[in-house]
Amino acid sequence: MSNALATYRADFPALNEPMNGKRLAYMDSASSAQKPQVVIDAMNDVLTHSYANIHRGLYANSQTTTQLYEDVRVKLANFINANSENEIVFTRNSTEAMNLVAQSWARNILQAGDEIILTTMEHHANIVPWQILEEQIGIQLKVVPILEDGSLDFGAFMALLSSKTKLVTLVHISNSLGTVNPVRKIVKATKNFDENIICMIDGSQSAVHSKVDVQDLGCDFFALTGHKLYGPNGVGILWGKFDLLNSMPPFLGGGDMIETVSFDGTVYKAAPFKFEAGTPAIVEVIGLGAAIDYLNAIGMDAIAVHEKEMLNYMVQKLGTIEGLNFYGTAQEKAGIISFTADWAHISDIAMILDQQGVALRTGHHCCMPLMQELGIEGTARASIGLYTNKEDIDQLVSALEKAKEMLS
Ligand code: ALA
Repeated sequence: MSNALATYRADFPALNEPMNGKRLAYMDSASSAQKPQVVIDAMNDVLTHSYANIHRGLYANSQTTTQLYEDVRVKLANFINANSENEIVFTRNSTEAMNLVAQSWARNILQAGDEIILTTMEHHANIVPWQILEEQIGIQLKVVPILEDGSLDFGAFMALLSSKTKLVTLVHISNSLGTVNPVRKIVKATKNFDENIICMIDGSQSAVHSKVDVQDLGCDFFALTGHKLYGPNGVGILWGKFDLLNSMPPFLGGGDMIETVSFDGTVYKAAPFKFEAGTPAIVEVIGLGAAIDYLNAIGMDAIAVHEKEMLNYMVQKLGTIEGLNFYGTAQEKAGIISFTADWAHISDIAMILDQQGVALRTGHHCCMPLMQELGIEGTARASIGLYTNKEDIDQLVSALEKAKEMLS
Protein backbone atom coordinates (compact mmCIF):
# COMPACT_ATOMS: atom_id res chain seq x y z
CA MET A 1 0.00 0.00 0.00
CA SER A 2 0.91 3.46 0.50
CA ASN A 3 -1.57 1.30 1.15
CA ALA A 4 2.12 0.81 2.36
CA LEU A 5 1.07 0.40 5.94
CA ALA A 6 -1.51 -2.27 5.14
CA THR A 7 0.99 -4.93 6.07
CA TYR A 8 0.77 -3.69 9.66
CA ARG A 9 -2.70 -5.21 9.91
CA ALA A 10 -0.98 -8.54 10.47
CA ASP A 11 0.60 -7.16 13.65
CA PHE A 12 -2.83 -6.87 15.30
CA PRO A 13 -4.16 -10.31 16.21
CA ALA A 14 -7.74 -9.21 16.89
CA LEU A 15 -8.01 -7.85 13.35
CA ASN A 16 -7.41 -11.31 12.03
CA GLU A 17 -10.38 -12.80 13.90
CA PRO A 18 -13.63 -12.83 11.93
CA MET A 19 -16.70 -10.97 13.26
CA ASN A 20 -20.08 -12.57 12.60
CA GLY A 21 -18.28 -14.99 10.29
CA LYS A 22 -16.96 -12.16 8.09
CA ARG A 23 -13.55 -10.56 7.65
CA LEU A 24 -13.35 -7.80 10.29
CA ALA A 25 -13.29 -4.24 8.95
CA TYR A 26 -12.50 -2.36 12.15
CA MET A 27 -13.56 1.25 11.64
CA ASP A 28 -13.80 2.25 15.31
CA SER A 29 -10.23 3.21 16.18
CA ALA A 30 -11.31 6.67 17.37
CA SER A 31 -13.16 4.89 20.12
CA SER A 32 -10.36 2.49 20.98
CA ALA A 33 -7.51 1.18 18.85
CA GLN A 34 -6.55 -2.45 18.42
CA LYS A 35 -3.37 -3.66 20.10
CA PRO A 36 -0.33 -4.97 18.24
CA GLN A 37 1.22 -8.27 19.34
CA VAL A 38 4.28 -6.44 20.73
CA VAL A 39 2.06 -4.67 23.28
CA ILE A 40 0.42 -7.94 24.31
CA ASP A 41 3.87 -9.58 24.53
CA ALA A 42 5.36 -6.78 26.64
CA MET A 43 2.52 -7.06 29.14
CA ASN A 44 2.71 -10.83 29.13
CA ASP A 45 6.50 -10.72 29.60
CA VAL A 46 6.46 -8.55 32.68
CA LEU A 47 3.66 -10.60 34.22
CA THR A 48 5.47 -13.82 33.41
CA HIS A 49 9.02 -12.87 34.36
CA SER A 50 9.53 -9.97 36.73
CA TYR A 51 6.22 -8.58 37.96
CA ALA A 52 6.39 -6.78 41.31
CA ASN A 53 5.13 -3.54 42.76
CA ILE A 54 7.25 -0.53 41.83
CA HIS A 55 9.11 2.17 43.80
CA ARG A 56 8.86 0.03 46.93
CA GLY A 57 11.03 -3.07 46.84
CA LEU A 58 14.80 -3.45 47.19
CA TYR A 59 14.62 -6.90 45.59
CA ALA A 60 15.61 -7.49 41.98
CA ASN A 61 12.16 -7.97 40.45
CA SER A 62 10.82 -4.77 41.97
CA GLN A 63 13.86 -2.89 40.70
CA THR A 64 13.49 -4.38 37.21
CA THR A 65 9.79 -3.57 37.00
CA THR A 66 10.37 -0.07 38.39
CA GLN A 67 12.97 0.51 35.68
CA LEU A 68 10.62 -0.75 32.93
CA TYR A 69 7.88 1.54 34.26
CA GLU A 70 10.08 4.63 34.58
CA ASP A 71 11.59 4.04 31.13
CA VAL A 72 8.10 4.59 29.72
CA ARG A 73 7.93 8.03 31.31
CA VAL A 74 11.06 8.92 29.33
CA LYS A 75 9.63 7.38 26.13
CA LEU A 76 6.47 9.46 26.48
CA ALA A 77 8.46 12.62 27.20
CA ASN A 78 10.38 12.05 23.96
CA PHE A 79 7.22 11.09 22.06
CA ILE A 80 5.59 14.47 22.69
CA ASN A 81 8.86 16.44 23.03
CA ALA A 82 8.42 17.35 26.68
CA ASN A 83 11.30 19.12 28.38
CA SER A 84 11.73 16.34 30.90
CA GLU A 85 10.20 13.05 31.99
CA ASN A 86 9.23 14.85 35.21
CA GLU A 87 6.54 16.60 33.20
CA ILE A 88 4.74 13.31 32.54
CA VAL A 89 2.06 12.30 35.05
CA PHE A 90 0.55 8.86 34.58
CA THR A 91 -3.23 8.91 34.87
CA ARG A 92 -5.97 6.39 34.03
CA ASN A 93 -6.85 8.15 30.78
CA SER A 94 -7.22 11.64 29.36
CA THR A 95 -10.50 12.09 31.23
CA GLU A 96 -8.61 11.73 34.50
CA ALA A 97 -5.91 14.09 33.25
CA MET A 98 -8.50 16.82 32.65
CA ASN A 99 -10.16 16.19 35.99
CA LEU A 100 -6.73 16.48 37.60
CA VAL A 101 -6.25 19.95 36.10
CA ALA A 102 -9.78 20.95 37.11
CA GLN A 103 -9.52 19.81 40.70
CA SER A 104 -5.85 20.48 41.42
CA TRP A 105 -5.03 23.60 39.42
CA ALA A 106 -8.34 25.29 38.63
CA ARG A 107 -10.19 24.66 41.88
CA ASN A 108 -7.34 26.19 43.86
CA ILE A 109 -6.56 29.12 41.60
CA LEU A 110 -9.85 30.21 40.08
CA GLN A 111 -12.54 32.29 41.74
CA ALA A 112 -16.23 32.93 41.17
CA GLY A 113 -16.70 34.88 37.96
CA ASP A 114 -13.46 33.68 36.34
CA GLU A 115 -14.00 32.33 32.85
CA ILE A 116 -12.95 29.18 31.02
CA ILE A 117 -13.17 29.09 27.23
CA LEU A 118 -13.91 25.76 25.55
CA THR A 119 -15.60 24.79 22.31
CA THR A 120 -18.85 23.32 21.04
CA MET A 121 -17.01 20.25 19.77
CA GLU A 122 -15.57 19.16 23.13
CA HIS A 123 -15.90 15.60 24.37
CA HIS A 124 -17.82 15.34 27.65
CA ALA A 125 -14.43 14.75 29.31
CA ASN A 126 -13.54 18.37 28.59
CA ILE A 127 -16.94 19.77 29.54
CA VAL A 128 -18.21 18.01 32.65
CA PRO A 129 -15.10 18.57 34.85
CA TRP A 130 -15.56 22.32 34.25
CA GLN A 131 -19.29 22.15 34.93
CA ILE A 132 -18.51 20.46 38.25
CA LEU A 133 -16.19 23.39 38.98
CA GLU A 134 -18.93 25.80 37.93
CA GLU A 135 -21.08 24.26 40.68
CA GLN A 136 -18.23 24.13 43.20
CA ILE A 137 -16.74 27.62 42.86
CA GLY A 138 -18.93 29.59 40.48
CA ILE A 139 -16.65 29.90 37.45
CA GLN A 140 -18.27 30.58 34.04
CA LEU A 141 -17.95 28.57 30.82
CA LYS A 142 -17.70 30.39 27.49
CA VAL A 143 -18.24 28.25 24.41
CA VAL A 144 -16.64 28.88 21.00
CA PRO A 145 -19.13 28.06 18.21
CA ILE A 146 -18.33 26.12 15.05
CA LEU A 147 -18.79 27.05 11.42
CA GLU A 148 -20.83 25.07 8.91
CA ASP A 149 -17.89 22.87 7.88
CA GLY A 150 -17.17 21.89 11.49
CA SER A 151 -14.19 24.16 11.94
CA LEU A 152 -13.90 26.54 14.87
CA ASP A 153 -15.07 30.10 14.54
CA PHE A 154 -11.72 31.74 15.28
CA GLY A 155 -13.19 35.27 15.27
CA ALA A 156 -15.75 34.22 17.86
CA PHE A 157 -12.95 32.71 19.93
CA MET A 158 -11.00 35.97 19.89
CA ALA A 159 -14.13 37.87 20.93
CA LEU A 160 -14.54 35.61 23.98
CA LEU A 161 -11.07 36.37 25.39
CA SER A 162 -11.37 38.86 28.24
CA SER A 163 -9.72 39.95 31.45
CA LYS A 164 -11.82 37.25 33.16
CA THR A 165 -10.39 34.43 31.01
CA LYS A 166 -8.15 32.14 33.06
CA LEU A 167 -8.13 28.95 31.00
CA VAL A 168 -8.58 28.01 27.34
CA THR A 169 -9.16 24.29 26.98
CA LEU A 170 -9.94 22.56 23.70
CA VAL A 171 -9.73 19.39 21.73
CA HIS A 172 -6.88 19.06 19.21
CA ILE A 173 -8.79 16.75 16.86
CA SER A 174 -12.54 16.38 17.26
CA ASN A 175 -13.53 12.76 17.90
CA SER A 176 -16.90 13.38 16.23
CA LEU A 177 -16.03 15.58 13.27
CA GLY A 178 -12.36 14.83 12.64
CA THR A 179 -11.67 18.59 12.56
CA VAL A 180 -8.03 19.38 13.32
CA ASN A 181 -8.15 22.56 15.37
CA PRO A 182 -5.44 25.21 14.89
CA VAL A 183 -4.30 24.81 18.47
CA ARG A 184 -0.89 26.39 17.94
CA LYS A 185 -2.55 29.51 16.54
CA ILE A 186 -5.13 29.53 19.34
CA VAL A 187 -2.48 29.16 22.05
CA LYS A 188 -0.39 31.92 20.43
CA ALA A 189 -3.36 34.27 20.20
CA THR A 190 -4.28 33.52 23.82
CA LYS A 191 -0.78 34.13 25.14
CA ASN A 192 -0.50 37.34 23.10
CA PHE A 193 -3.73 38.49 24.69
CA ASP A 194 -2.55 37.59 28.21
CA GLU A 195 0.41 35.33 28.87
CA ASN A 196 -1.08 34.28 32.23
CA ILE A 197 -4.00 32.45 30.62
CA ILE A 198 -3.40 28.71 30.87
CA CYS A 199 -3.95 26.61 27.72
CA MET A 200 -4.88 22.97 27.86
CA ILE A 201 -5.16 20.62 24.90
CA ASP A 202 -7.14 17.39 24.82
CA GLY A 203 -4.88 15.30 22.62
CA SER A 204 -6.82 12.04 22.90
CA GLN A 205 -7.24 11.81 19.11
CA SER A 206 -4.30 13.89 17.90
CA ALA A 207 -1.38 12.02 19.45
CA VAL A 208 -2.57 8.99 17.47
CA HIS A 209 -2.57 10.49 14.00
CA SER A 210 0.55 12.62 13.73
CA LYS A 211 3.61 13.89 15.57
CA VAL A 212 2.78 16.03 18.60
CA ASP A 213 5.32 18.52 19.93
CA VAL A 214 4.02 20.14 23.10
CA GLN A 215 6.76 22.77 23.13
CA ASP A 216 5.93 23.80 19.59
CA LEU A 217 2.21 23.97 20.43
CA GLY A 218 3.10 26.33 23.27
CA CYS A 219 0.38 24.99 25.57
CA ASP A 220 0.64 24.44 29.35
CA PHE A 221 -1.16 21.09 29.67
CA PHE A 222 -1.71 18.25 27.19
CA ALA A 223 -3.70 15.06 27.82
CA LEU A 224 -3.57 11.77 25.97
CA THR A 225 -4.89 8.28 26.53
CA GLY A 226 -3.09 4.99 25.97
CA HIS A 227 -5.90 2.85 24.61
CA LYS A 228 -6.36 5.01 21.50
CA LEU A 229 -2.60 4.96 20.99
CA TYR A 230 -2.50 1.19 20.36
CA GLY A 231 -1.68 0.64 24.04
CA PRO A 232 -3.71 -0.86 26.87
CA ASN A 233 -6.76 0.58 28.61
CA GLY A 234 -6.43 2.19 32.02
CA VAL A 235 -3.40 4.37 31.36
CA GLY A 236 -3.00 7.87 30.00
CA ILE A 237 -0.92 10.92 30.74
CA LEU A 238 -1.17 14.50 31.72
CA TRP A 239 1.76 16.53 30.45
CA GLY A 240 2.31 19.89 32.12
CA LYS A 241 5.09 22.45 32.23
CA PHE A 242 7.15 21.40 35.23
CA ASP A 243 6.96 24.58 37.32
CA LEU A 244 3.22 24.72 36.85
CA LEU A 245 2.74 21.06 37.73
CA ASN A 246 5.02 21.32 40.71
CA SER A 247 3.14 24.35 42.03
CA MET A 248 -0.12 22.42 42.10
CA PRO A 249 -1.45 20.53 45.14
CA PRO A 250 -2.07 16.77 44.90
CA PHE A 251 -5.25 15.50 43.30
CA LEU A 252 -5.46 12.15 45.11
CA GLY A 253 -3.71 11.31 48.37
CA GLY A 254 -2.21 8.00 49.38
CA GLY A 255 0.91 5.89 49.21
CA ASP A 256 3.87 6.60 46.94
CA MET A 257 3.10 10.33 46.52
CA ILE A 258 4.63 11.40 49.83
CA GLU A 259 8.08 12.05 51.31
CA THR A 260 6.88 11.69 54.90
CA VAL A 261 3.55 11.30 56.65
CA SER A 262 2.79 12.04 60.28
CA PHE A 263 -0.30 13.18 62.11
CA ASP A 264 1.37 16.55 62.41
CA GLY A 265 1.51 16.94 58.65
CA THR A 266 2.53 15.31 55.40
CA VAL A 267 5.22 16.29 52.94
CA TYR A 268 4.44 15.50 49.32
CA LYS A 269 6.89 14.42 46.67
CA ALA A 270 7.63 16.76 43.78
CA ALA A 271 5.79 16.44 40.46
CA PRO A 272 5.06 14.12 38.79
CA PHE A 273 5.06 11.66 41.69
CA LYS A 274 2.81 13.70 43.96
CA PHE A 275 0.03 13.05 41.44
CA GLU A 276 0.47 9.27 41.38
CA ALA A 277 -1.08 8.04 44.62
CA GLY A 278 -1.39 4.30 45.14
CA THR A 279 -0.17 1.41 43.05
CA PRO A 280 -0.46 2.52 39.43
CA ALA A 281 -1.32 0.57 36.28
CA ILE A 282 2.16 -0.95 36.16
CA VAL A 283 1.64 -3.56 33.46
CA GLU A 284 -0.44 -1.19 31.35
CA VAL A 285 2.21 1.53 31.50
CA ILE A 286 4.77 -1.00 30.30
CA GLY A 287 2.39 -2.03 27.52
CA LEU A 288 2.02 1.62 26.52
CA GLY A 289 5.81 1.86 26.32
CA ALA A 290 5.78 -1.02 23.82
CA ALA A 291 3.11 0.80 21.79
CA ILE A 292 5.29 3.93 21.69
CA ASP A 293 8.28 1.85 20.49
CA TYR A 294 6.05 0.31 17.82
CA LEU A 295 4.79 3.71 16.62
CA ASN A 296 8.32 5.15 16.60
CA ALA A 297 9.53 2.24 14.50
CA ILE A 298 6.88 2.95 11.86
CA GLY A 299 7.17 6.73 12.23
CA MET A 300 4.34 9.14 13.02
CA ASP A 301 4.95 10.99 9.76
CA ALA A 302 4.46 7.78 7.76
CA ILE A 303 1.29 7.06 9.73
CA ALA A 304 -0.05 10.56 8.98
CA VAL A 305 0.62 10.16 5.23
CA HIS A 306 -1.03 6.74 5.12
CA GLU A 307 -4.08 7.86 7.08
CA LYS A 308 -4.52 10.90 4.85
CA GLU A 309 -4.55 8.64 1.81
CA MET A 310 -7.10 6.35 3.47
CA LEU A 311 -9.24 9.37 4.44
CA ASN A 312 -9.25 10.68 0.87
CA TYR A 313 -10.16 7.23 -0.43
CA MET A 314 -12.98 6.90 2.10
CA VAL A 315 -14.35 10.39 1.34
CA GLN A 316 -14.37 9.56 -2.37
CA LYS A 317 -15.99 6.11 -1.93
CA LEU A 318 -18.63 7.22 0.59
CA GLY A 319 -19.45 10.11 -1.74
CA THR A 320 -20.77 7.56 -4.26
CA ILE A 321 -23.56 6.45 -1.90
CA GLU A 322 -26.67 8.53 -2.31
CA GLY A 323 -28.49 10.06 0.64
CA LEU A 324 -25.60 10.31 3.10
CA ASN A 325 -25.12 13.55 5.02
CA PHE A 326 -21.62 14.32 6.25
CA TYR A 327 -20.73 16.27 9.39
CA GLY A 328 -17.25 17.78 9.58
CA THR A 329 -15.87 18.70 6.19
CA ALA A 330 -13.19 21.17 7.30
CA GLN A 331 -10.06 21.46 5.20
CA GLU A 332 -7.91 20.32 8.12
CA LYS A 333 -9.36 16.95 8.92
CA ALA A 334 -8.15 13.63 10.38
CA GLY A 335 -9.38 10.13 9.57
CA ILE A 336 -12.80 10.39 11.17
CA ILE A 337 -15.98 10.54 9.08
CA SER A 338 -19.37 11.15 10.67
CA PHE A 339 -22.57 10.74 8.71
CA THR A 340 -26.29 10.15 8.82
CA ALA A 341 -28.49 8.76 6.05
CA ASP A 342 -31.74 10.04 4.59
CA TRP A 343 -32.90 6.48 4.03
CA ALA A 344 -32.51 4.93 7.50
CA HIS A 345 -31.70 5.46 11.15
CA ILE A 346 -28.01 5.10 12.01
CA SER A 347 -28.67 2.33 14.56
CA ASP A 348 -30.43 0.20 11.92
CA ILE A 349 -27.53 0.81 9.55
CA ALA A 350 -25.00 -0.17 12.24
CA MET A 351 -26.82 -3.46 12.85
CA ILE A 352 -26.58 -4.41 9.20
CA LEU A 353 -22.93 -3.33 9.06
CA ASP A 354 -22.22 -5.52 12.08
CA GLN A 355 -23.59 -8.54 10.22
CA GLN A 356 -21.23 -7.68 7.35
CA GLY A 357 -18.18 -7.63 9.65
CA VAL A 358 -17.96 -3.84 9.81
CA ALA A 359 -17.40 -2.29 13.25
CA LEU A 360 -18.18 1.38 13.62
CA ARG A 361 -19.64 3.56 16.33
CA THR A 362 -23.04 5.22 16.25
CA GLY A 363 -24.47 7.78 18.65
CA HIS A 364 -23.43 11.08 20.16
CA HIS A 365 -19.78 10.05 20.66
CA CYS A 366 -19.76 11.70 24.11
CA CYS A 367 -20.41 15.05 22.39
CA MET A 368 -24.06 15.73 23.19
CA PRO A 369 -23.72 19.55 23.05
CA LEU A 370 -22.22 19.25 19.56
CA MET A 371 -25.07 17.00 18.41
CA GLN A 372 -27.58 19.50 19.86
CA GLU A 373 -25.86 22.25 17.87
CA LEU A 374 -26.02 20.14 14.70
CA GLY A 375 -29.69 19.36 15.41
CA ILE A 376 -29.21 15.61 15.30
CA GLU A 377 -29.30 12.74 17.79
CA GLY A 378 -26.05 11.31 16.64
CA THR A 379 -24.04 10.04 13.69
CA ALA A 380 -22.49 6.87 12.37
CA ARG A 381 -18.74 7.33 12.62
CA ALA A 382 -16.08 5.49 10.65
CA SER A 383 -12.56 6.09 11.89
CA ILE A 384 -9.16 5.18 10.57
CA GLY A 385 -6.18 3.61 12.30
CA LEU A 386 -2.67 2.92 11.05
CA TYR A 387 -3.82 -0.58 10.02
CA THR A 388 -6.81 0.60 7.96
CA ASN A 389 -6.53 -0.36 4.29
CA LYS A 390 -8.58 0.02 1.13
CA GLU A 391 -10.14 -3.40 1.63
CA ASP A 392 -11.64 -2.17 4.94
CA ILE A 393 -13.08 0.87 3.22
CA ASP A 394 -14.43 -1.16 0.29
CA GLN A 395 -16.05 -3.53 2.80
CA LEU A 396 -17.65 -0.56 4.60
CA VAL A 397 -18.97 0.81 1.32
CA SER A 398 -20.45 -2.52 0.16
CA ALA A 399 -22.03 -3.04 3.58
CA LEU A 400 -23.59 0.43 3.37
CA GLU A 401 -24.89 -0.31 -0.11
CA LYS A 402 -26.46 -3.49 1.23
CA ALA A 403 -27.97 -1.56 4.17
CA LYS A 404 -29.42 0.97 1.74
CA GLU A 405 -30.93 -1.79 -0.37
CA MET A 406 -32.52 -3.41 2.67
CA LEU A 407 -33.67 -0.29 4.52
CA SER A 408 -34.76 2.22 1.90
N1 ALA B 1 -13.94 9.08 23.12
C1 ALA B 1 -14.13 7.83 22.50
C2 ALA B 1 -14.90 7.97 21.21
O1 ALA B 1 -14.84 8.98 20.59
C3 ALA B 1 -14.68 6.81 23.40
O2 ALA B 1 -15.57 7.08 20.79
